Amino acid sequence: MAKTKVGVLISGRGTNLQSLIAATAAPDYPVEIALVISNRPRASGLKYAEMAAIKHTVIDHNAFPDRESFETAINALLREAKVDYVCLAGFMRILTDRFVGNWRGRLLNIHPSLLPSFKGLNVHERMIDAGVKIAGCTVHFVSTEMDAGAIIGQAAIKVLPNDNAKSLAARILKIEHRLYPTCLQAVVEGSARLSGGVVKFDAPIKAGHALLNPTTSGA
Ligand code: GAR
Repeated sequence: MAKTKVGVLISGRGTNLQSLIAATAAPDYPVEIALVISNRPRASGLKYAEMAAIKHTVIDHNAFPDRESFETAINALLREAKVDYVCLAGFMRILTDRFVGNWRGRLLNIHPSLLPSFKGLNVHERMIDAGVKIAGCTVHFVSTEMDAGAIIGQAAIKVLPNDNAKSLAARILKIEHRLYPTCLQAVVEGSARLSGGVVKFDAPIKAGHALLNPTTSGA
């Protein structure tokens, strides 16, 4: 089976990159990660690409006079690697409308909240402060407005009474690692399609169980 080439952009720890790499190990997973780019020279996540013998490189945004020239360098490498899709995995640079437009429908991001709630930064602290009872993560297509592109998939967990930002982030991260490979697969295989600004699925989806918190007795 010919695999679809994907590029991954990171800025730091890279555990979502790691989960995507792990998924690609399955023979029937339709993706091959062709290139990993970090905008930070010391991003520890680069080690996952190194360990998996995936081509990886640093494009340090500080070395460029503006966003456009930084992105032109990234774009050139992505094209050279012949990638069809790009996954942002903890990539903490705002992308210009031009870059986003170039990759429209082929640029995915993961965000640690149930969008459209809690866009932006310091998400876990803000969720704890707001007293939310269900939290989660979202994989979405990137649009020119930050954290606002069409939602591909979401996963949810309960917020526990003694949670703090750190414990909540750790539990959300675990489901991020399940959600991102699943959503990428659905997009690459064409079962998730952009239609009228939202994502529709061709494949049947089981209704499953509601996630209730607090749980009523017997539920
Ligand atoms: C993840 O929690 C991801 O959802 C978040 O950064 C973390 C990266 O972790 N992304 C954003 O907040 C984007 N707005 P990782 O480097 O271990 O994958």
